[in-house]
Amino acid sequence: MRAKSLWPEGVQESQPIWWHNPKYKPNKRAANEGRVGVDDLKRAVESWSRFQMILSKIFSDIESGDGAQSQLAQLDLPEFLPSKVLVKADHTIKTTGSIKGRGGVYEVLSFAEYVLKSHGIDPRAHPMAPLSAAARALFERYKIVVGSTGNLAFSVGMAGRKLGFRVEVHMSRDAQTWKKVRLRDAGVHVVEHEGDYSHAVDAARKVASTDAFSYFVDDENSVTLLIGYSAAAREIMRQLEHSGIAINQDNPLFVYLPCGVGGAPGGITLGLKNIFGPNVHCIFVEPVASPCMLVQLASGSAVPVNVYACGLSNETIADGLAVAQASMLVAEVVGEQIAGVATVQDDDLSEWVERMWTLAGMRLEPSGAAGFAAFARHGRAIQQSFGSNQAGTTIIWTTGGSFLPELEWAYAREQGQRVLSNRANLIV
Ligand SMILES: Cc1ncc(COP(=O)(O)O)c(C=O)c1O
Repeated sequence: MRAKSLWPEGVQESQPIWWHNPKYKPNKRAANEGRVGVDDLKRAVESWSRFQMILSKIFSDIESGDGAQSQLAQLDLPEFLPSKVLVKADHTIKTTGSIKGRGGVYEVLSFAEYVLKSHGIDPRAHPMAPLSAAARALFERYKIVVGSTGNLAFSVGMAGRKLGFRVEVHMSRDAQTWKKVRLRDAGVHVVEHEGDYSHAVDAARKVASTDAFSYFVDDENSVTLLIGYSAAAREIMRQLEHSGIAINQDNPLFVYLPCGVGGAPGGITLGLKNIFGPNVHCIFVEPVASPCMLVQLASGSAVPVNVYACGLSNETIADGLAVAQASMLVAEVVGEQIAGVATVQDDDLSEWVERMWTLAGMRLEPSGAAGFAAFARHGRAIQQSFGSNQAGTTIIWTTGGSFLPELEWAYAREQGQRVLSNRANLIV
């Protein structure tokens, strides 16, 4: 007789599954107050409005506008009927081109304000102070250090350099060459690692710990990153109101969020639960080879458990989601607010990169298309877990891709066309 596996059925076999989190508490609005409180979420919204003014001065493609970093667009495609589907288009976020900019840029600007405060300058009284020559002279003394698969490094690097900080990024083997090239062109010191994401983060942590003038952006443990992402929830609230869509018991919101280490989807979940409470359900999406949040939450363990322990490879074309160990901060603080995890195959990602280009002209990288892949595969099952008579409104969060250079884009499309044609042959 085979022993019952510790893991949900299909996970070890790399099958795409929908895992409904048994510890999900739909009514839990506030986070684990000891670590991230409602006041932190409010502070993030407030700080972002100052930061938006600064960013519009240093980056020519950013307008100070109404504070929305990306559009929430209705997607009227027959493929998704009868569901009502909206897209939160973070693949178009200015300057950084991905959802990670929400956290990375927020943390760089928060650190800039911290440096100014420690020199007696109050950023609330002088919101543009980070752009002064005196501030730049101060920032040049500091080095910001970060480890990442690519998009966080890219965001921290671009924002940090613009303010005058020295920046050192440690990138894992999954990181794309074009991101390294662009960072080096911006004056960032790029350190390449043969190891995976956790290895790159560890290396960055070590470097920063030996130098009093280094500041480490910790993708695994930073509360500042988390609350930077959380402010997106207010954007959503405003955009839904503007579109005349009321979220309530009769029209719940289902949100599909691609998950790597968990910071971006975790922070957004915190923000959304705080606003919409039991009427929003956040679904994390992970590749079948790297379902780190699923493994951590399903293990029920208070100590880290990674996907290798489950016999999985952590090898996926979704570089942003190629993470073996989930953030313990997110697992602990947000775990009970995550409705569940949907996993997808690399071929699903390629297929949806191509489909969303031909259907809607969206230029997505494989990680950025994960929400569509999950919705297409598991949308019905997910809906049924919450009561099939509640169609609700679905938001698919597209998280990166509009910056892909032509060559990478052509390759991504080629892979998508190959999958679509193989799958069509299978049906015939
Ligand atoms: C395009 C893209 N989407 C989603 C994510 C997931 O974010 P997180 O690692 O914070 O879970 C990443 C992470 O780098 C990413 O690059």
